[in-house]
Amino acid sequence: MAAPGRSVLRPIIILVLLMVNHSAGYHSVCTNDSCKFLGDCSSDSDCAAGLYCLSCPAGFQLSRCVRSTATDQFSLVNISLPFNKYAFLTTHNSFAIEGEQSHTGVPRVTFNNQEENVTAQLNHGVRALMLDTYDFEGDVWLCHSFKGQCHDYTAFEPAIDTLKEIEAFLTANPNEIVTVILEDYVQAPNGLTKVFTDAGLMKYWFPVSNMPKNGGDWPLVSDMVTNNQRLLVFTSIRSKEQSEGIAYQWNYMVENQYGDGGMNAGSCFNRGESSPLNDTSKSLVLMNYFRSVPIKPLACVQNSGRLIDMLQTCHTASGNRWANFIAVDYYKRSEGGGAFQAVDTSNGELICGCQDVHSCLPDRHYTLLHYQTDIDQAIKGS
Ligand SMILES: *[C@@H]1O[C@H](CO)[C@@H](O)[C@H](O)[C@H]1NC(C)=O
Ligand SMILES: *[C@@H]1O[C@H](CO)[C@@H](O)[C@H](O)[C@H]1NC(C)=O
Ligand SMILES: *[C@@H]1O[C@H](CO)[C@@H](O)[C@H](O)[C@H]1NC(C)=O
Ligand SMILES: *[C@@H]1O[C@H](CO)[C@@H](O)[C@H](O)[C@H]1NC(C)=O
Repeated sequence: MAAPGRSVLRPIIILVLLMVNHSAGYHSVCTNDSCKFLGDCSSDSDCAAGLYCLSCPAGFQLSRCVRSTATDQFSLVNISLPFNKYAFLTTHNSFAIEGEQSHTGVPRVTFNNQEENVTAQLNHGVRALMLDTYDFEGDVWLCHSFKGQCHDYTAFEPAIDTLKEIEAFLTANPNEIVTVILEDYVQAPNGLTKVFTDAGLMKYWFPVSNMPKNGGDWPLVSDMVTNNQRLLVFTSIRSKEQSEGIAYQWNYMVENQYGDGGMNAGSCFNRGESSPLNDTSKSLVLMNYFRSVPIKPLACVQNSGRLIDMLQTCHTASGNRWANFIAVDYYKRSEGGGAFQAVDTSNGELICGCQDVHSCLPDRHYTLLHYQTDIDQAIKGS
């Protein structure tokens, strides 16, 4: 499984990892070692389902099969809990995609945060998207700013294009719930309402009036699905909650410091706009873990052990609450499990008090839980 000529330790480590992973059951379809988790590979077709072939020189030699797909926590553990008892893989600057063609006629001079389009992100299990919205060319665009403005050389695309991808996904996947978190610079009156309407997304809109205000639980995910209220949208502009019915993010969510300031091991604290992380009057917790300026070759290392360590640190800082949203750059890059494993950990802790959601058995009556009542209700209600 390991390439020849390396230290004797490496094969042992890999063997241990394979054994650990085997118990989590990712790759039972594999018939040979090379297609397994962390096995050597030269292309994606060498890797089992849910894995792909990645080179990560900062973390390991050659190329290996690493995870590419999130666990579907809803179908794995078939009980319906309140929305805030689940964790979701979140892409930071989901729109800032490498290779996105210029829509302005001017080549882009700005950085990228992801490497595949939003449709592909959603298909791999991303369920929350962080988008930066600007007034630009008489419309709403997704953009990086330079001095607070969108420019033709920092613009990625009209927001409608990405919102239509979300609409297509929600329509094709009637049990899925998607959260959109806007860093919002749109000043045009009803600018966001117009673009969400034009994208056909209002039919999935989760109304602000159903959002818990004082740290209460969110509705059960089964009710959100039944009511077809499967799109959550948060804006960073307070007044839009009144004027457009778009939830003001900081009324419902806490978030740690983003960028380099949020990546110091052992330290997790709220970003300026957010209440302190331990303010439990906000029911949702978002953990950022990405550099101020993304460096693609380092993402595979950052999204691995250090991310999981920070998840633990932020759990403690958040009043012993596990993150609902785990936001990263280059979300598929890792040394193995990466952001997918972090989300599995958060879901495991949230759903059944286990370190991995794969350990939450569907037919078990959980006793470790801090929300036994919710589970009882969910079981009664189902
Ligand atoms: C391992 O299995 C994969 C998929 O089943 C296949 O594509 C690959 O060629 C196999 N590799 C070896 C070395 O047999
Ligand atoms: C989940 O449970 C519900 C009712 O308990 C059942 O109708 C549904 O088929 C189950 N879904 C899966 C994927 O097992
Ligand atoms: C997204 O990317 C995939 C390839 O990964 C491509 O097949 C698909 O057409 C793209 N979709 C959109 C809406 O750009
Ligand atoms: C919240 O955390 C702060 C430190 O950031 C601490 O001073 C405060 O006592 C904590 N509040 C609660 C209710 O735990």
